[in-house]
Amino acid sequence: MTTRTTMSGATAEKSCCGPTCCTPEAEVAKAPSQEHLVLQVRERYSKIAEGEVSGCCGTNPVGCAGGESAASLGIGYSKSDLARVPEEANLGLGCGAPLGFLAPKAGETVLDLGSGPGLDVFLASPLVGSGGKVIGVDMTPAMLEKARRNAAKMVATNVEFREGRLEALPVEDNTVDAVTSNCVVNLVPDKGQVFTATLAGRAPAGALRDGWDLARELHRRGSWATPPPSSSPSAR
Ligand SMILES: C[S@@+](CC[C@H](N)C(=O)[O-])C[C@H]1O[C@@H](n2cnc3c(N)ncnc32)[C@H](O)[C@@H]1O
Repeated sequence: MTTRTTMSGATAEKSCCGPTCCTPEAEVAKAPSQEHLVLQVRERYSKIAEGEVSGCCGTNPVGCAGGESAASLGIGYSKSDLARVPEEANLGLGCGAPLGFLAPKAGETVLDLGSGPGLDVFLASPLVGSGGKVIGVDMTPAMLEKARRNAAKMVATNVEFREGRLEALPVEDNTVDAVTSNCVVNLVPDKGQVFTATLAGRAPAGALRDGWDLARELHRRGSWATPPPSSSPSAR
């Protein structure tokens, strides 16, 4: 605990309570705001979408040495997955192959948080079929343009790409059955807000099973400090 002197000259207690309040003020002033971080992320992914820089990281410590396909095969995509989508839909940006866990079903509405050039959206599209829908949300206009161009090449009619932030999803409440995301929530400073927005979008109780698993997985990996309750939303 430290003390500070008030305007009247009296000494008051200041309790040290968190990660910033005991940090020297000059340090706090230098720290980038959350919004600044989001802008930096958007700038980076604009450059990647426009081909100015490679975003491919894969499992190889020297990045995309083997190309985007090799990186994607290394994180769980199959050759037939990659053969089903336009080459430009895979920029090697993921860190896993989440659709295998999600297992979307015919007729469902699937939401991909941070859909980038559309890889997982296009892979989910035939799984939900013509009675279902896949919505990709991304905040980077250049990524959305790329994803929409890819959708035109695929002639995929049950996919839609929406511009928006994960922290305030452009999705109506209670409309989404299953949520997927590939290496994106880790980029958002306010992860709690992402989960609040995601849970608001879920369809009536029980349908968002995989969104919940995503939250659990993030907690397990240490990317989200607050563990989700052990019961699924269907039990609430
Ligand atoms: C690592 S890439 C993943 C792209 C895609 N899921 C894939 O596997 O190819 C991250 C994507 O998330 C988007 N993104 C990052 N933060 C976001 C946010 N707060 N709201 C919406 N989109 C975001 C970026 O624009 C980028 O396209």
